[in-house]
Order: sequence, then structure tokens, then C-alpha cells
Amino acid sequence: MARDVANVWWAMFAFSVLVLAVVSALWIHAMLRQPREVDAEQAERINRRWLAGGGLILPTVSILALLAFGVPAGRGMLPLPVPGEQPLRVEITGHQWWWEVRYPDSGVVTANQFILPVDRPLDVVVASADVVHSFWVPRLGGKLDMIPGRSNTLRLAASETGVMRGQCAEFCGSQHAHMILHVEALEAEAFDQWIEARAGREHQPPTGASGQVFVERCGQCHRVAGVSDGQRAPDLSDLASRPTLGAGVIANDAEGLRRWLREHQSLKHGNAMPSHDDIPAETLDQLADWLETLAP
Ligand code: CUA
Repeated sequence: MARDVANVWWAMFAFSVLVLAVVSALWIHAMLRQPREVDAEQAERINRRWLAGGGLILPTVSILALLAFGVPAGRGMLPLPVPGEQPLRVEITGHQWWWEVRYPDSGVVTANQFILPVDRPLDVVVASADVVHSFWVPRLGGKLDMIPGRSNTLRLAASETGVMRGQCAEFCGSQHAHMILHVEALEAEAFDQWIEARAGREHQPPTGASGQVFVERCGQCHRVAGVSDGQRAPDLSDLASRPTLGAGVIANDAEGLRRWLREHQSLKHGNAMPSHDDIPAETLDQLADWLETLAP
């Protein structure tokens, strides 16, 4: 889809360069030529000819040419049926300020990472849980607004494997810039393994003081498969497999995780997770140790 959009852009660019060149050539010609005598009737006829050519024929031809490129490109972005193939459905919901990513066929849920198989059409159904966000992965396709109370569908397909960046493209509050989506296209087999590793995976709850904190606080909002069922905050069931924390704020490693638990309100001010200042540092560190085990 991004390639189609780029092709339309280059076609428009080439055509506008052509128009500019022709208009410039006519202008230079008009400046340099020796004017010939014309009577009023001839002048009127010449004027009419230019009006018809420049005002009717040229715009009609340009718009038709643009449509010839634009309509097929636009059609490719519609979630139309694909003969002999069932597009993979992925539901992505924007929150202030993170991404919820669901694969309804397998029940897999993750956050702030969107993993997709290469060479397979996808129907990305976008929605919002609060304000207007916009789903945008420039290397995959165009933007699509995520509007509270409705869902929009975008047809996408990755033509090669690799890591791409997605970004919320509609101002949605103070941390709009920190709403980054890690996007990765995998070979079909690797994608199936990625799904299989997560589907049905259950974890053991943390023990001791951190276990109590998790049940009383974290688990009210965060879901961890087999442990808690909170629905307001990012699902943490495969947390250890994500490259970043806070939707792109810091790297997700042992040090980053500890820092995020202690300082998340200064790292990403205004995020919906309450401050942890009242939780003893060693309990937070125990929580971090356990969170690191949440691998698929
Ligand atoms: Cu979400 Cu900007």
C-alpha cells in the first residue's frame, strides 16, 4: 500500500514538473517573441482557445490521469475479499498512550508491538479507547484515524521481512510523541511460531511481598495470562519479548525495567499508571525480576 501511495506521488510529481516546464516555456516564449498585429476578433478567438485549453482540457486530462493512478491504489487499501485467501485480522486499539494489539483468531494479545507475517494480506481494524489517535506505519501504508466509538479497517501486506516503526499520527495529549509501535514482519513459519508460543501460555503468580502488590494493585489493570485479568492497561503476558517499555520510552532490559517501575512518571509524565513511590524499592525489584520471566 505504501508503495502504491509512493507511485501515485511520483506520478503526480512528474506530471506537475511537466506542467511547470510547459508553462515556463510558454512564458519565456511570450516574453521574447515579437508581437504580431491582431485585430479585436482574432484576439478574442485566441483568448477563447487558451481558456478552453488551459481551463478545461488540461485540468480534465490531469484529473483523469490522476484518477487512473489513484483509483487502483485506493482500491488496494480497501478490505475487499481476496480470492482463495483469508486475510489475517488484527485489532489495534489506541490508548493514551500505548497500543493494544489483538489477534482474534488465536486469542493472542500483546501491546506496543505489532508482529505480522510477510506476503499475506492483513485487515488491521483500528479503534480507540479514549481520544482520537491515528495508526501509521509509513513503510507499510497510509494513516488511518482511530476514532472512539467506531472501527476502521486498513488492508496492509508486508512484501519483505524486517523491523519498521509505527507512530501515532494524531495529537492525542502530552505524551503523543511517546506512542511508538514496534512493527516486525516475519516469515510465515516464524510468525506461526510467534503466535503458537503465546496462545494458551499461562504464567505463575509472583510470590511474597511482590505477589501481594501485584494482586492488589498491578493486576487490577494489567492482565497476565493465568495470573490476573485487568483490562485497562497493557497486557503483560509476553512483556519480556517486547523491545521497549512505555511504548518506546526506554529499552526493555533488566536495568530499564527496574528504572521504569521506579520512575515511570518522570520518564513518561501523565501516563495512567499510578506512582510507585509508596512501594519499597526491594519489592519493586522483586516485581521486576518476575516481570522479566513473562516470556512467551
Ligand atoms: Cu495517540 Cu497521538
